[in-house]
Amino acid sequence: MVEKIRVGALISGGGTNLQAIIDAARSGTIAADIVFVGSDNPDAHGLQRARSSGIPTFVVDYREALRSLRQNPAGTKLPEDFRLDEARAKQTLWPRDADPEKVDVFLAGRAVAESLLLEAMSAHPFDLLVLAGFMRNLTPYFIDRVNTDRTRPRIMNIHPALLPAFAGTDGYGDTFRYGCKVGGCTVHFVDYGEDSGPIIGQRAFPIREDDTLDAVRRRGLEQEWQLYPECIQLFAEGRLKTVRMSHELTGGKFCERIVVKIRPEKG
Ligand code: GRF
Repeated sequence: MVEKIRVGALISGGGTNLQAIIDAARSGTIAADIVFVGSDNPDAHGLQRARSSGIPTFVVDYREALRSLRQNPAGTKLPEDFRLDEARAKQTLWPRDADPEKVDVFLAGRAVAESLLLEAMSAHPFDLLVLAGFMRNLTPYFIDRVNTDRTRPRIMNIHPALLPAFAGTDGYGDTFRYGCKVGGCTVHFVDYGEDSGPIIGQRAFPIREDDTLDAVRRRGLEQEWQLYPECIQLFAEGRLKTVRMSHELTGGKFCERIVVKIRPEKG
């Protein structure tokens, strides 16, 4: 018997993945209780879904937080435990040669919003945080405060493409426009980059000659609704282990990466 884990979710939109997770928890397909649903967007339909299932919700209106920072940068208090140099050194969302001023404004603005998120989340202890269509990149400030044990990441994301192809906000669109014959979705742990963390699970589906982007999106979402609960269940069963793998390449170079190994089922 697997003990139930407490799952918190962050969303920005319709919340069909959230619904799949709520349904899986309710039917006992996954050993999980959804303990909160938070959103950066007050109008996210997923909030309604959560409320009608009796799940506590909260909103941290990113647009509002970022607007007040833009209008009054000097009057905005950064979180006391925020270290800009540390966030800058760790982040891989922006390339190293990006305009440093832009990067700093981004990191500081996000830290303000993320500290509000952390505060709201602190009322609801959780074991796993799932991003279910949460359309904001998280920075090292937030990630380090959730992943207090570096060897046990506990933020998952679902991405609408077969990573590492087509990171970014429009995975199905990018896959379709590129002319791919196969599309897919990926669940991964969140690291300091954009959609770049260790891969937990993937599903693929064919893209046919007469498919429209809408059809691809629909087919992809249907896969997501199965994949995300499966990955949450693997986490609940304690079967996900992150390991650092090193491979020698031609020319004596080495490639290193943290990957997920899935332990076999017990018994
Ligand atoms: C999904 O396609 C997910 O992969 C992506 O955003 C979309 C969210 O859809 N990150 P929904 O809000 O779960 O319906």
